[in-house]
Amino acid sequence: MKTYLVTGGAGFIGSNFVLYMLKKYNDVKIVNLDKLTYAGNLENLKDVQENPKHIFVQGDICDKELVTELFDKYDIDYVVNFAAESHVDRSIKEPEIFASTNVLGTVNLLNCAKNAWERENGWKDGVRYHQVSTDEVYGSLGDTGYFMETTPLDPHSPYSSSKAGADFMVKAYFDTFNMPVTITRCSNNYGPYHFPEKLIPLLINNCLNHKDLPVYGDGLNIRDWLYVEDHCKAIDMVVRDGRVGEVYNVGGHNERTNIQIVKTVIKHIHDNVDETVTEDLIKYVEDRKGHDRRYGIAPDKIKEELGWYPETTFEVGIVKTIEWYLENRQWMENVTSGEYQKYYEKMYTV
Ligand code: NAD
Ligand code: TYD
Repeated sequence: MKTYLVTGGAGFIGSNFVLYMLKKYNDVKIVNLDKLTYAGNLENLKDVQENPKHIFVQGDICDKELVTELFDKYDIDYVVNFAAESHVDRSIKEPEIFASTNVLGTVNLLNCAKNAWERENGWKDGVRYHQVSTDEVYGSLGDTGYFMETTPLDPHSPYSSSKAGADFMVKAYFDTFNMPVTITRCSNNYGPYHFPEKLIPLLINNCLNHKDLPVYGDGLNIRDWLYVEDHCKAIDMVVRDGRVGEVYNVGGHNERTNIQIVKTVIKHIHDNVDETVTEDLIKYVEDRKGHDRRYGIAPDKIKEELGWYPETTFEVGIVKTIEWYLENRQWMENVTSGEYQKYYEKMYTV
């Protein structure tokens, strides 16, 4: 039995990871530490609510006492840190919480893990701290080339700068203490349980409600889209078999301009759900400050070393995603109405 401390496991990618792992393995136990900010949604975890191998703890990764207690109580083998403030637009308005959660929270987790795992002659056997990072730490690309693991970090937004700060702290624990760590830097995820402040779920929700589709700037910024389940698989592989001290880039080979994404979502909904949804809904709005132009990853290292590749093409993934939102309209309704924040009481009070 391996015990994971998963942080941020009620958020978009974290909850997909928890569900993925508990479905795939019988010998995995997950302690899920999440503060339940606006982005945390326990409804994402309702399928594992009764599962004794999933222990949910509401709390802050910055809380030293609590994290120490979790290490003492559960024999943690792996930490997988998803917990973060994750939205670039919010980071432009409120940078402080990004520095606090993303940088200081990471340092606290590293430190508590070190206290629990360090031995006189090295480290407890088989332990690993894994940091879930982002390709945004590399900055922005021109028309050609890709981010490689060796690309110097050049973050621009408060969000990406805080994630880069966290990555440097993880590296410092490896360089200074030889702590067994790994980092993955992935491109833009999409799929089920994605909070509708981010581009793809926002577009789906607005189309279904005949609301404007805001496109920042000229709509020609490029993102590389990674289906969330492919990402979960990559993290699982890196935690188990990735080389200690290494960074692995995880990308989807699915680069699209934002306007292409907008038109793809409109077309699917127009053709399959509601003929009145058309490109008339597109509304070009003021550009994001410091908007990175292009992200693109060549995930060669993870392919060569671990055999991982993105299995889901964008054409398949986007249809799966839209269909999921259509089948789970109540989930979106609960999120947009704020009802989802009552799930804690519903799930955890008798
Ligand atoms: P999310 O915003 O959906 O979820 C974040 C989760 O962290 C929420 O459940 C929230 O309650 C929790 N959280 C926030 N502050 C916390 C704290 N102080 N203590 C404990 N829990 C806290 O984010 P996501 O999109 O699932 O991203 C997960 C991770 O992946 C983040 O570290 C993010 O930087 C990284 N990432 C995301 C993407 C993407 O496309 N979504 C791409 C690259 C990297
Ligand atoms: P987002 O989903 O916020 O992810 P990130 O900024 O981390 O890449 O945005 C994806 C792209 O879509 C980004 O270039 C900004 C753009 N965008 C819009 O054009 N309109 C929107 O309403 C949002 C939320 C994003």
